[in-house]
Amino acid sequence: MITRRKFVGLAGATALLALSGCVASGEVSPGGETAGSELEGEAETAGSELEGEAESEGGAKGGNALTGSVLIVYFSCTGTTERIADIIAEATRADTFRIVPQQPYTDADLAYYTDGRADREQNDPGARPAIAERVDGLSGYDAIILGYPIWHGQAPRIMDTFLESCDLAGKAILPFCTSHSSGLGSSASDLCALAPEAHWLEGRRFDPDASSAEVEDWLAASGIAVAGASNVPASFSLASRQVTLNDGHVMPTNGLGTYSLKDQTCVDSVAAALAAGVRLIDTAYMYGNEAEVGRAIRESGVPRDEVFVITKLYPSQFTNAADAIDEALAKLDVGYVDMMLLHHPGANQVEAYQAMEAARDAGRIRSLGLSCFYVDELQDFLPRVSVKPALVQNEMHPYYQDGDVVDFIHDQGIALQAWYPLGGRGHNAELLADPMLAVIAADHGASIPQVILRWNLQRGVVVIPGSGDPAHIREDASVYGFELSDAEMARIAALDRNEKHDWY
Ligand SMILES: Cc1cc2nc3c(=O)[nH]c(=O)nc-3n(C[C@H](O)[C@H](O)[C@H](O)COP(=O)(O)O)c2cc1C
Repeated sequence: MITRRKFVGLAGATALLALSGCVASGEVSPGGETAGSELEGEAETAGSELEGEAESEGGAKGGNALTGSVLIVYFSCTGTTERIADIIAEATRADTFRIVPQQPYTDADLAYYTDGRADREQNDPGARPAIAERVDGLSGYDAIILGYPIWHGQAPRIMDTFLESCDLAGKAILPFCTSHSSGLGSSASDLCALAPEAHWLEGRRFDPDASSAEVEDWLAASGIAVAGASNVPASFSLASRQVTLNDGHVMPTNGLGTYSLKDQTCVDSVAAALAAGVRLIDTAYMYGNEAEVGRAIRESGVPRDEVFVITKLYPSQFTNAADAIDEALAKLDVGYVDMMLLHHPGANQVEAYQAMEAARDAGRIRSLGLSCFYVDELQDFLPRVSVKPALVQNEMHPYYQDGDVVDFIHDQGIALQAWYPLGGRGHNAELLADPMLAVIAADHGASIPQVILRWNLQRGVVVIPGSGDPAHIREDASVYGFELSDAEMARIAALDRNEKHDWY
């Protein structure tokens, strides 16, 4: 029987999985690649590469990633593998299916080197112990996390029964095992040979006392989103510092906003951000600095495909969006734009968006989104376009939390990004001196801006604080070394005043 997680609206965890292909030869291909972002000296592990396509444009950034729902399938006789499966279920909110043998294994059956039942089965390549129940609704899952104990260096034969009785074509399979001391060995590749039409990812062995952190790190390194607070989409991963967009592309969870940064200050700020490991830069036609942003990226030495560049069309450009897109690409001069947004709702917004769709089809823009669209605007806009926006960028900070909008947008499967995450220059003196935030910040040895940014991240919102001060840019990027408790998140939630700091 499948145990379904009780989180509303989730048939299973949504995961970013990078495919490695079935490796019948015995070698399971490596999974995680080191991504661009290196903050606080920690190399980050991002979504894995697609075999053979890793270097193609966008491949390493998730263009080829599979987003889908995950089922944890495991076999466990003495509870060790079950414990790891439970940790995975907790972290991913995926459904679980326990493989239950029709004839349960007694202690005598499990006593190894006694020529007991388990020994005999392992010695017989044709043994296929019967399973009590089949998996219901397997076709609805895109990926399987497959757990088993090691028996005499191999997976128990009942795993063969399972694999041979299921249609796993096209599904991703991420194996893991527990054992007394043996490694994964060839167990995963031997299983792989039984379901070669599935895409097998690099497996992993866990000690009987493996910690939750170890398991979660492995999931993140395998490209599987680990969920945070209960309303955070599973596609948003604090562990990998990336959010998987609804079009499969992957965006960093923090970036630099460049509003009001001009000329050399803009170039220097973008350079400082890239040097600090920031890999998301947000600009706009209206900021008048696309050329400077592009120049800083080109001069940085950071590979183009490690940087996620967002720009926006202003409403005054909507009547001739095709030319405006050409202009943005020419000014940026970085080959392609990762994400283009409509800056505000405005006349001819659908036509402008359709021009962006055409540029997306031509490979000049990777993802499309909107800025300053709240619930009413989205309800009007979404039915009128064929490509669902991947991102909405709105004003959001502790005094303007926009909770209903956040829920509405997340429910649409659209990622959220906060502009003015720190309240907005010229409007943030009170927020940045808030006594309650000061207490939380002191408790974590962090600054108030870091606490605010962290709060947004923990509710699944990408942050793009703007600053022209390299020290602040570095500080704003260092938000992954501490975690706010549920109580602290609740105290910050209570600061909401519905106090908007800008007109749109
Ligand atoms: C028949 C049998 C053979 C085993 N063979 C090995 C082995 O080759 N290497 C090893 O490290 N552990 C071996 N073990 C120990 C199990 O792999 C280990 O206890 C595992 O974590 C049990 O998982 P479970 O609680 O999910 O059943 C064996 C256990 C049994 C019952």
